Amino acid sequence: MTADASQTYHLLRKKLHDVLPDFEIRAKAELACRINQLKGDLGAVILGHNYMEPGLYHSVPDYTGDSLELSRLAATTDGDPIVFCGVRFMAETAKILSPHKTVLIPSLEAGCSLAASITAEDVRELRERFPGVPVVTYVNTYADIKAESDVCCTSSNALAVIESFKTDTVIFLPDEYLARNVARESGKHIIFPTDRPIPGDKQDPHMDYQILGWHGKCEVHEKFNVEDIENVRRQFPDVVVLAHPECSPEVVEASDFSGSTSAMIRFVEQARSPRYLLLTECSMADNVAAENPDKEMLRLCSVRCPHMNQITLQDTLDSLLQNRYVVDVPEQIRLKAKRAVDRMLEIH
Ligand code: 13P
Ligand code: SF4
Repeated sequence: MTADASQTYHLLRKKLHDVLPDFEIRAKAELACRINQLKGDLGAVILGHNYMEPGLYHSVPDYTGDSLELSRLAATTDGDPIVFCGVRFMAETAKILSPHKTVLIPSLEAGCSLAASITAEDVRELRERFPGVPVVTYVNTYADIKAESDVCCTSSNALAVIESFKTDTVIFLPDEYLARNVARESGKHIIFPTDRPIPGDKQDPHMDYQILGWHGKCEVHEKFNVEDIENVRRQFPDVVVLAHPECSPEVVEASDFSGSTSAMIRFVEQARSPRYLLLTECSMADNVAAENPDKEMLRLCSVRCPHMNQITLQDTLDSLLQNRYVVDVPEQIRLKAKRAVDRMLEIH
């Protein structure tokens, strides 16, 4: 092991000794060291989502954060190429905001069940059916969907984005649970369009709803249920339960706090309780545990996002070595999508 790799190993070991076995920390330190050297030589910047596995999360990103924070960073960073350790829709957002830079994603398999749940044609049909109703789309969508939208939002600003419209109704796509959670928080009435005529459709001017939703779901967060929380609370009455807003409204209601991935991280850092249950992707609980050794993170089981899981240190190294995989967004779509992303970034 070189002196630099040995230094990386000791830094990682200090953080991750309770989270990863020693042989894994050793192997990851060697890879991380090569990545960091190459990154410096190339002038690259690495952005890492909070769901990256602990070895990667704690060693190579120049910045870590939730979707909104990483979008803001992608717009302002000097590094080129930008290597996005996250999923494709996030890397596309970076390309939308930094068109002159090379944006790389280490794996082509890093998709998202929410992004896959809707097509641009679906959005156009909704617009035709509900003329004049603004379209808000979650950033967990591909660029062609963003291009059909008026504004994007993330889990940390969804409510502010919806409230920025002075209209009676908004279309909110594609996450059913996030839409229901926002409806609950804002006191708005939500419906889900069906093939049958519904009250409030363009034939009927008397709308009795304010949010029109879609049935997209996060395949990770839909797995949590209220029974899980009740069981853990029975065993550990002092546990503080945190749920991502992609969980069902019942789960969010039964939790003590709900917020974006970074909001959950900040909550644990600032709270004084000894024990937490994080209802979100399980690598994030590892990352939070490593940063807060005095606090206990309870696990229900290993609920890993299969898409985030595609991003490994080896693929990140190969991405830099081989300039792969380049993320491109056709210019016509990029310009339209940028309007929706810029509008989101203007809302605080
Ligand atoms: P955040 O915006 O909270 O980081 O969430 C992104 C995501 O994909 C959650 O599943
Ligand atoms: Fe998509 Fe869910 Fe994975 Fe986030 S956790 S990237 S929403 S599938």
